Amino acid sequence: MSGREKMLVTGSGGMVGSYVSQVFQDFDLILTDIRKGEHILDVRRADKVDSAIRSAGPDFVLHLAAATDVDRCEQEPDWAYETNAMGTQNVALACQKHHIPMIYISTAGVFWGDQEEPYIEYDEPRPCNVYGVSKLAGERIVTSLLPQFYIVRAGWMIGGGGRDKKFVGKICRLIADGHSPIKVVSDKWGTPTYARDLLQGVRTLIRTGYYGLYHMSNRGKVSRYDIALAIRDILKRTDVEIIPVSSGEFPLPAARARSESIRNFKLEKLGIYTMRTWREALEDYLRTEIMKEVSCAPSS
Ligand SMILES: NC(=O)c1ccc[n+]([C@@H]2O[C@H](COP(=O)([O-])OP(=O)(O)OC[C@H]3O[C@@H](n4cnc5c(N)ncnc54)[C@H](OP(=O)(O)O)[C@@H]3O)[C@@H](O)[C@H]2O)c1
Repeated sequence: MSGREKMLVTGSGGMVGSYVSQVFQDFDLILTDIRKGEHILDVRRADKVDSAIRSAGPDFVLHLAAATDVDRCEQEPDWAYETNAMGTQNVALACQKHHIPMIYISTAGVFWGDQEEPYIEYDEPRPCNVYGVSKLAGERIVTSLLPQFYIVRAGWMIGGGGRDKKFVGKICRLIADGHSPIKVVSDKWGTPTYARDLLQGVRTLIRTGYYGLYHMSNRGKVSRYDIALAIRDILKRTDVEIIPVSSGEFPLPAARARSESIRNFKLEKLGIYTMRTWREALEDYLRTEIMKEVSCAPSS
């Protein structure tokens, strides 16, 4: 017996999962994923989920497994609901049966997006695409089945380093490959969330025993265009032209909310964890993880 706390993680092979070992380095971790890592676990398999959780006997279950490709969710709703709603139900039922607190990472994509002010936990969710509906269904399942849960809604996720396939990684690669001008959408708003900061916040939160629903993102409301400008400045590549365009220039299968910006209202009021600004987080991410991997110097 190590006496260390134990946590079972689903979907640990993804972007957020890539920081778990670092942030929870003093925990005994059972890292599971559908394809990668030591323990293969598909959360759509209720029997497998139950036996994995029963045999591990963790102090917490951190549920990261999800169908996160928003456009694929729109085109393959069965995949979205089976993974994000029914998969979450399987994890929640096993946590209920074995009396284990569950941490469910949800999304700012549960909001319709017409509000100017960043959304807080007391604003009514109303998703505009299948991904949002399926993640909200997951929230409702967790809430209805468990007495001890943390639902943590994150904003636009930043992270992944050299394997970053999200917006920040894409812009860095376009810059590194010598593209200019780069067109970036300027009429959609959100709040960046550095995955490492998110897990630090989760770590702080689970110490409190204040179960419930939380927003957890870095601070600020920005457009993709603002982020691209910041990346260019941090990389010292002012030679690259970034052009603001309307989202109509890049039609996508799934609708995107005009604003997915959130504010960590409850964390602020409880004085639990003050997340740094999105710009500080972005700068830290680029300096510590991206600039080593991607050469962004001008090609001269
Ligand atoms: N990414 C964002 O912008 C964002 C924003 C807000 C909230 N979130 C939430 O944050 C959590 C973590 O997301 P992330 O960014 O780390 O996403 P991610 O990189 O897509 O990671 C999710 C992981 O879950 C795995 N997975 C998919 N279906 C599974 C299944 N049936 N059983 C077990 N594992 C499965 C994925 O494997 P494959 O890659 O092989 O499918 C992947 O390794 C999710 O709940 C997501 O909804 C994400």
